[in-house]
Amino acid sequence: MIFIKTQILTNSSADLACAAQLIRQGELVAFPTETVYGLGANALDATAVQKIFAAKGRPADNPLIIHIAQVADYASFAREINPKAQALIDNFCPGPLTLVLPKAAGLPDNVTAGLDSVAIRMPSLKLAQQLIELAGVPIAAPSANTSGRPSPTCGTDVLEDLQNKIAAIIMADSSAIGLESTVVDCTTAQPKLLRPGGITLAMLEEIVGAVAVDASIQTFVPVATPKSPGMKYKHYAPQAKMSIWEELTNAEIIEFIRANLAHKPEVGLLLSAEVAEKLGAVACQVQVWGKLSETEKLAAKLYAVLRQFDRAQVSEIYAQGVPVTGLGLAIMNRMRKSAAFNIIKKI
Ligand code: TXA
Ligand code: MG
Repeated sequence: MIFIKTQILTNSSADLACAAQLIRQGELVAFPTETVYGLGANALDATAVQKIFAAKGRPADNPLIIHIAQVADYASFAREINPKAQALIDNFCPGPLTLVLPKAAGLPDNVTAGLDSVAIRMPSLKLAQQLIELAGVPIAAPSANTSGRPSPTCGTDVLEDLQNKIAAIIMADSSAIGLESTVVDCTTAQPKLLRPGGITLAMLEEIVGAVAVDASIQTFVPVATPKSPGMKYKHYAPQAKMSIWEELTNAEIIEFIRANLAHKPEVGLLLSAEVAEKLGAVACQVQVWGKLSETEKLAAKLYAVLRQFDRAQVSEIYAQGVPVTGLGLAIMNRMRKSAAFNIIKKI
């Protein structure tokens, strides 16, 4: 890996102009979006795109999302937008929604990992829009983490993984949503959910009727050849072995901790406010996540908490699952992958 001194930029207009120029010159710039921080390169420049794969250690068969700043640009990079795709664009873009569409000519092969489709997103965060606008090119951007680590929700997380591997980072506020965008395949007449996120299944179905759900989400076990290549890798994972309690009552979780974990300082516990309140003192490193009903807050904190456990070098993490409804589907999708499908269903 080549050493490049990473420039730390702010959201000032001079710094944004500098970031945009670096993008145009074929360099990598990490930047905030409302979902997670992205690692951006000029999507039209195959050499620049290649640097993304190298910096992240990302498998070449995992395609990138192209970020645009104008709704009109969906039509510049997709060769067809069917009526349901158009309805999703009209209702949710800009925002935390990525559409997979038939790929237009002119985009490099490596940005889509050789596929005939392209993933396109228009972020709603103004700073991200300004950067794309100023760069004057679409920006290919995966999450700005080392492949396999939890996605970064603040600039410090990005630096932890990528400092001196990328040209610059724009340091700004933490990402409000904290989970990657919803990905919907719109290459067929019926849309298909490939990755759950901030735009929930119910929100999609309210606009376009029934949406198919990819097997990798429905079954919650790893699928050998999912439609979205990124979903087959162990992903979002902390360094410690992680397990999730599912279908256990709060009382059963407390009983499990007292019987098996309470005396172990090397264990990290991710607990709802409800459980943490009743548990009392334990030797474990406890992170109080939030109330189980406040799913937006839980989503925003999940990756930050997993990185916190890594910094504290816990050897094992036990985390409380959340109900798989609304945003809970996206939270549990990421948690189950973080835990490599290590699920505890009874005590
Ligand atoms: O919120 C987000 O989407 C963030 C921010 C930076 O915008 N980006 C992000 O990118 O999460 P990444 O690369 O970490 O995840 C992109 C996902 C992967 O699962 C990838 O396989 C899938 O989108 N994807 C990209 N192009 C695709 C395509 N043509 N067909 C199917 N899946 C695709
Ligand atoms: Mg990612």
